[in-house]
Amino acid sequence: MDASQQKVNEPKRYSNGDPNIVSNIIISYFDNPLAFALVGLTILLVVTRAASSRNTIPETAPDHNGAKTVAAVPYWLPYLGHLPNMAWDAAGFTQRLRDQFTQGVFALSFGATTHHIIYHPELATSLLNQKQNVASSEEVSKRIMTAVFGFPAEEHDKYDAALPELTACYKHILSEPSLGKMVAQTAQRTKGDIKDLVTGNESPVDQMPWEKTSKVRGSRDSTGETVIEASLLPLIRDFVAYTASPAIMGSDFLANNPTFFEDLWTLNDGFLLLATGLPRWLPIPTLTRAHIARKRLLDSLTVFHEALEKEASGETPGSKWSSLDDVGDLVKSRMPVYRKHGFSLRARAAVEHALMWAANANSDALIFWMINRIYADKALLAMLREEIQPFITGVQPESSLAFAEAPRLEKFDVQGLLTSCPLLKSCYLECLRLDTAPWSLRAINQDVVVQGRERDAQGWLLRKGGYAHAAHDLHNTDPRHFDDAMTWRAARHVRLEGDQKRATADTGSMRPYGGGSSMCKGRAFAFKECMMFAAAIIAMWDIQPAGSGEWKMPRHKKATGVYNTSDQTRVWVRQRQLSRPSTT
Ligand code: HEM
Ligand SMILES: *[C@@H]1O[C@H](CO)[C@@H](O)[C@H](O)[C@H]1NC(C)=O
Repeated sequence: MDASQQKVNEPKRYSNGDPNIVSNIIISYFDNPLAFALVGLTILLVVTRAASSRNTIPETAPDHNGAKTVAAVPYWLPYLGHLPNMAWDAAGFTQRLRDQFTQGVFALSFGATTHHIIYHPELATSLLNQKQNVASSEEVSKRIMTAVFGFPAEEHDKYDAALPELTACYKHILSEPSLGKMVAQTAQRTKGDIKDLVTGNESPVDQMPWEKTSKVRGSRDSTGETVIEASLLPLIRDFVAYTASPAIMGSDFLANNPTFFEDLWTLNDGFLLLATGLPRWLPIPTLTRAHIARKRLLDSLTVFHEALEKEASGETPGSKWSSLDDVGDLVKSRMPVYRKHGFSLRARAAVEHALMWAANANSDALIFWMINRIYADKALLAMLREEIQPFITGVQPESSLAFAEAPRLEKFDVQGLLTSCPLLKSCYLECLRLDTAPWSLRAINQDVVVQGRERDAQGWLLRKGGYAHAAHDLHNTDPRHFDDAMTWRAARHVRLEGDQKRATADTGSMRPYGGGSSMCKGRAFAFKECMMFAAAIIAMWDIQPAGSGEWKMPRHKKATGVYNTSDQTRVWVRQRQLSRPSTT
């Protein structure tokens, strides 16, 4: 008899003389290391589960005016807590908890730290309006500045000192007159570029940057007509990125760094891995690629800042930087702040890196979703074309010469689009509702009670040392707030207002841009660019699934705010049948 068989047979030894079967079985396990480990693990899980089940029912917290403690969701794994559930299916997991914990807030455990998840809009507002010393967003954003965007750790003190002035500069993208300048510049570029969304050029040398990344190729439909086939996500995302960014960075920057956005998307894919602060030598391909991309991004932004610095000190920045005067007001206004606080060029590059990410990671993808949702429904597309027609019209000039003239936009009345196209605005809002999942994170530095607006609304105690998230998507998909919540409905947000019963659309209880002091600084521009780009595309282009058949809605893939997708969305793009320009 060999050793392994002996081991298996051993338990019998005990059962011979002892009548107590249960204790025999238990004792027998001690001879089998695997079984022992399993029993140990089971006990650990059960104990963890039991211990973490103690606070599942809210209790009145002493000394907090009747505020209650937040219900803690039990978990099985010590330390990890709910992290595996979040990694597996964050949306499904949290939506089920929302439906179970109906009072607007519940608590999860990640890495032995309490995270309060707040989804009731009034409680979320109450959290976001707390002062920085109570519920701070700054630690989180400082960590991201360093770990993701590459801000030099040794310059943190300068960053803290400069932060109020840097924040004040955001008025240049939030309000007039700078915002209007940005919008006008973007409208001008859109007007110029929209006819080249696809060019049909075969050679990459002649293709536009957004065509290069979206694998365009010529094809023929069933009637033999020529169409251009392309991948819709990179096509729309990069078209918007290249067309809108010069309003912030000026025209030289992208001209000198034509692959900037490819690197920015690679960095974006590694965003969460970088944010965890994992060491760069770990063999995780997404992380390694993100590090390489970040180096190139920072290098190109450092060269940009070198040129700006030269110009500011009266030197000539060189022939590649001859039109720095069209750099946007926000970036220009930050220059004196950097100089005053002695920021290195690397530190300046990191701040602009964060800005370029914030300005593109969400809006470019949101416009992709708008295009998907709109073209998927032919009747909706027709209604929108009618709605925008007074403000934006594509025309086909008659060619008197031998060659065909390019189509163009005859009108581009941005103000009209923004104020008089409630259905298009409602589509934008509906995409913000369903195609984004931003969470606003706050570190809780003092015990604080969050509470709804009504006088005797229940207060909830968030204890010092934990974190709180305003989980905007849980509200946006809450069936108690939105009828048929998971269905995308174009006209959902349209309301009739005033005696004239004028149709309007507004954000209502949604907070897609966060809130409080860290609220999105680009929200005013984001709304305008989404309306402009969506309108320009639908005015000029027909898009349908490649091959034929129904539009297949791409599946959501979790990203930092607006959802991404891994689905290949190959489409056929062709120019719309346009009328002749009006003669007036
Ligand atoms: C649909 C498009 C967009 C969405 C959904 C979006 C959403 C957000 C969210 C949720 C935050 C965090 C708020 C918080 O922590 O409470 C944020 C921050 C920010 N966003 Fe946006 N954003 C969009 C477009 C833009 C654009 C176009 C720009 C710039 C032109 C921009 C600039 C910023 C900046 C600078 C911050 C950091 C604010 C701070 O920490 O002080 N965003 N955005
Ligand atoms: C989205 O997903 C695609 C495919 O997985 C990826 O290539 C891309 O970099 C991702 N991010 C963005 C912002 O498009």
